[in-house]
Amino acid sequence: MKVIKVKDYEEMSTEACTFILNKLKQLQKPVLGLATGSTPEGLYKRLINKYNEQEVSFKDISTYNLDEYVGLENDDPNSYHYFMHDKLFKHIDIPEDQAHVPNGVAKDMDKECQNYEKQISDAGQINIQVLGMGLNGHIGFNEPGTPFSSRTHIVELDESTREANARFFNSLEEVPKKAITMGIETIMESKEILMLVSGANKKEALDRLLNGEVTEDFPASILQQHDHVTVIADEAALEGK
Ligand code: F6R
Repeated sequence: MKVIKVKDYEEMSTEACTFILNKLKQLQKPVLGLATGSTPEGLYKRLINKYNEQEVSFKDISTYNLDEYVGLENDDPNSYHYFMHDKLFKHIDIPEDQAHVPNGVAKDMDKECQNYEKQISDAGQINIQVLGMGLNGHIGFNEPGTPFSSRTHIVELDESTREANARFFNSLEEVPKKAITMGIETIMESKEILMLVSGANKKEALDRLLNGEVTEDFPASILQQHDHVTVIADEAALEGK
């Protein structure tokens, strides 16, 4: 894994934006894997700025998000559909049918999982997958214990994950108990992975990601076995390293 150490969240976001724009220039029909959460927000702001400065167009880019809560409608402000629309898609020129987020309200969720997998493989796999990491090492919503061989699937969210995400909801009770997420094997099939880590609270998780045992108890540890992973982490997360 290549580790790029940056000063803080802002510098992490700028570095991530430069990284992605450089890669996009080398690709004709790029396929980007995207994440939600606090970590990539600064990256999305910078991508919007670059679009406004006409340095990038998203017309030929397809995106696939990692995950979505089960049971939240697309227009629910806490859904990841809403998040992506609000934080990125509505500000850029990506055609609507090229911006994919798993459907958390599909009638047949198993079928939705299979469809999502098929769409990604029909697109020729993800060129660059952007990842954030949960404190318990989750990537996407793949919680500890998820088989490394998992494909897109429905998960029960850990209580710790629901508590961490409760900050976006009015109360913990409102946080959905289930989600649909790309599986670990799906993520590992991305040609390249960009993991962003910021803040002192991620210090222990980052240490396990970089130096810990590769174990399903800490899902992000599998990234040690991927040939093209770049980690951009700030001083607080890398403290002492
Ligand atoms: C979100 C996702 C999650 C987050 C993780 C970190 O799509 O897949 O794995 O990346 O929960 O969240 P933040 O960035 O809010 O610390």
